[in-house]
Amino acid sequence: MKPIKVGLLGIGTVGSGTFNVLKRNQEEITRRAGRSIQITMVADLNTTRAKELTNGECEVVNDANLVVNNPEIDIVIELIGGYGIAKELVLKAIANGKHVVTANKALLATHGNEIFKAAQEKGVMVAFEAAVAGGIPIIKALREGLTANRIEWAAGIINGTTNFILSEMREKGLDFDVVLKEAQRLGYAEADPTFDIEGIDAAHKATIMSAIAFGIPVQFDKAYVEGITKLQATDIRYAEQLGYRIKLLGITRRTPHGIELRVHPTLIPAKRLIANVEGAMNAVLVQGDAVGATLYYGKGAGSEPTASAVIADLVDITRLATADPEHRVPHLAFQPNAMTDTPILPISEVTTSYYLRMQVADQPGVLADVTRILADSTISIDAMLQKEPAEGETETDIIMLTHQTQEKNVEAAIAKIEALPTVVGQVTKIRLEQLS
Ligand code: HSE
Repeated sequence: MKPIKVGLLGIGTVGSGTFNVLKRNQEEITRRAGRSIQITMVADLNTTRAKELTNGECEVVNDANLVVNNPEIDIVIELIGGYGIAKELVLKAIANGKHVVTANKALLATHGNEIFKAAQEKGVMVAFEAAVAGGIPIIKALREGLTANRIEWAAGIINGTTNFILSEMREKGLDFDVVLKEAQRLGYAEADPTFDIEGIDAAHKATIMSAIAFGIPVQFDKAYVEGITKLQATDIRYAEQLGYRIKLLGITRRTPHGIELRVHPTLIPAKRLIANVEGAMNAVLVQGDAVGATLYYGKGAGSEPTASAVIADLVDITRLATADPEHRVPHLAFQPNAMTDTPILPISEVTTSYYLRMQVADQPGVLADVTRILADSTISIDAMLQKEPAEGETETDIIMLTHQTQEKNVEAAIAKIEALPTVVGQVTKIRLEQLS
C-alpha cells in the first residue's frame, strides 16, 4: 500500500522528536499501522534549522499554507501552538480534507467545538493525544480503554513545571520565587511561565479531559483556575505535618447538579500514589464505576515523550482512514449527537474539604470563637494543629482541616473568622481532596 503522507507544521522540540522517532522506529510503526507513514513536508520559519534537522529527507518550506494546501498531504501535524495562526491552519487543513494531529491544548480547550464540528462535517479526524499529559496515553484511556465506565471523576498532575516547583519547595523548604528562578535556570520553566504557574495550561488540559469524560463540549471559559504563585512554604510544611502533600491538581467531577471543572493547589493524603509523583512528572487518576480507580503516570512533556503521543495519533489515523467516518472513534469520545449540556458548576457550588490556616492571638476563647463559627456554618473539623507561639511572640498559627462542605459555606465562615478581633490578617484556604 502506498505510504501515508504527513506534513509537519513547526519543527521545534516536539516536531524534531516526531521526525526522529518516526524514522528510528519506521519498520515497527509500519508493521503496526499497516502502511508506511512518511513526513514528506515540513514548514518552519527557520528553514535552515529545519533542513539540518531533516537531513534533506523531506521538502522544507517557510510558509505553512503550502503544506495545508498541498493535495499530496494526507495528515497535517500542527505543532505551532497558540490560538492565532494555528487555528487558521488547522481549519484550512480540515477544509482541504486533511486529517489533523495536534498537541495544542490551548487551541482545543478554547476553539475545540468549532474545530471538531468542522472535522465532523468534512469527515476527517482531529487527534490530540499529545495535548494532555504529553506522552501518557490518557486520551486513549478515557476515550477507549474506559469506554464501558460511567466516569465519576478524573484528577491529575498535568503540569510538569508546577509539579517540579512544588516538589522543590517541599524538599528544600524554599519559597516559590526562589524555586521559580532555579526552574527557569534549569530550563524546566519558560522565560514567561505565566501559563504554567497560573494554572492555565493545566486548566486547558482539564477542560479537554472533562469533555471526553462526560460527553460535554469543551468549556475552558467555565473552568475555575488558580495557580501556585500565592502558595507559601509554610503551608507546604504544615500540610506535611498533617500527612498531606500539596499538588496543583486539575479536577473534573460529575455531581448530581453539574460538573466540577477546576485547577488549584490541593492537599492530598501523602499515602496516595499520586501524592508521590515528584519533579516534572505527570499523573492522572481516573475513577470509573466499573473499573474503580486507575492511575496513569509518565512524562508530560519533552521531545520524544510527546512525539510518542503524536505518532500514536498518526498510526490511529492511518488505521482508521479507510473507515466510514460514522464508525470511527468520536473526537470527544461520545457521538456528536449524544453530547449533553450538563452545566459546569461555579466554584461556589463545588463540594470539597479545606485546609485553613489563621494567625491568632494566643489567648483564651479564640479557638472556641473560631470553632463556633465553623459549627454555625455546619462545617465539621477533621483535624487541627496548633503551634506554640515562637519565643517572645503573642500570636500563633492554627491549622484546621475540614470535612467536605460547599465552597460558599467556607467563604462565609472565613469572612466571619477574619472579622474576629483576635484573628490577624487573612485566613489561608487550600482545598483538600481525599481521592479515595
Ligand atoms: N508546559 C507544560 C508543563 C508542558 O510544564 O507540563 C506542555 O504542556
